[in-house]
Amino acid sequence: MTKPNAVLLTGGAGYIGSHTAISLVQAGYFPVLLDNFCNSDRRVLGRLKQLLGDQAFAVQEADACDQSQIVQLLTSFDVTAVIHFAALKAVGESVVQPLRYFENNNQALLSVLKAISSIAKDRYIHLVYSSSATVYGDPDQVPITESAALRPTNPYAWTKVIGEQIILAQQQANPSCRAVILRYFNPVGAHESGMIGEQPQGVPNNLMPYVQQVAVRKREYLSVFGQDWPTPDGTGVRDYLHVMDLAEGHVKAVDYLLAGERSEIINLGTGTGRSVLELIRAFSQASGQDIPYRFTPRRPGDIAVCYADSSKAVSVLGWRAQRGLEAMCTDAWRWQSGNPDGYV
Ligand code: NAD
Ligand code: WQD
Repeated sequence: MTKPNAVLLTGGAGYIGSHTAISLVQAGYFPVLLDNFCNSDRRVLGRLKQLLGDQAFAVQEADACDQSQIVQLLTSFDVTAVIHFAALKAVGESVVQPLRYFENNNQALLSVLKAISSIAKDRYIHLVYSSSATVYGDPDQVPITESAALRPTNPYAWTKVIGEQIILAQQQANPSCRAVILRYFNPVGAHESGMIGEQPQGVPNNLMPYVQQVAVRKREYLSVFGQDWPTPDGTGVRDYLHVMDLAEGHVKAVDYLLAGERSEIINLGTGTGRSVLELIRAFSQASGQDIPYRFTPRRPGDIAVCYADSSKAVSVLGWRAQRGLEAMCTDAWRWQSGNPDGYV
């Protein structure tokens, strides 16, 4: 089963993992997707096969907390890098079920690192880790640089801060252990084919998937959380990033590590903040659909403004987001209108 350029994607059937699999294949890598499908749909695999062909990637149903499964995949495919996506990611749920979040997210990372180090005697396997802008909490200033203070405000965010610390400690103990920690801002949109995209379970927590469901009339209206934020139009400002740009950022990170470069922590964002009302307008224009909305009180834990200083990604990885808000909305709409009930 040995494959040249095999890259293991834990959580590879999820939203970002499935899009990254496409970019990896396009760049000449062989993705090996490991997922337990706790927050994804097996039918994404059929779509990937339609897009990429049967032979372009492999799939293993397994729990990322199971170290022996990971060791087995690393050795049988001769994996050169792991992108560790597998995690639970719903902020509100993490407040209600903190132990489940710490157990899943941090145990999975430990298993990946232990699996990697168990075969490090023979060769080294590089790591790309999915962190999040949520580690910054409410920032003192924007754009946010990688050296900004880390102020997690919920258990999910803590799992990411702890994950980063685990990786840094392991690097200090084993300098040959090299990793790129990517802090994503707000990934949205879908692959240009409209065949894969984000499929939230139940009521969407995030803005873009909610807007998409309003546009296909699955939801009556969008609640805009607060109109009195200290922002130009009073609504929250975020750094929305096309998921295919994000996917390509992972390819750059893998290329970078395989070129022998040193470990880094890097923001992946566009560097531009957009308000909720701007996003609604852009989506409405791209889809031709009216997006009814009502202002409601602020969501607990929300912040006013968050966007990246993305200069380090440019200088270190040679990565810059290529797609603007219009493409994010057009591609999200193509996916949502073609698949109103997701992969069903
Ligand atoms: P997702 O839920 O769509 O994908 C995660 C995948 O991991 C799912 O397919 C899920 O089934 C799988 N998974 C979870 N725990 C697992 C385990 N123990 N074993 C095997 N598989 C497991 O989420 P996503 O949006 O694709 O996020 C990917 C990563 O990026 C996560 O680590 C997330 O925290 C991080 N992230 C996401 C966002 C975002 O807004 N989507 C922003 C910043 C960071
Ligand atoms: C964006 C803006 C809301 C929904 C979350 C996680 C973060 C990261 C990315 C993983 C805010 C407003 C939202 C709605 C609204 N994920 N909004 N009505 O909060 O920046 O970040 O996703 O790491 O950890 O916290 O993204 O899409 O939820 O919100 O008005 O129904 O949209 O108030 O201003 P957020 P979001």
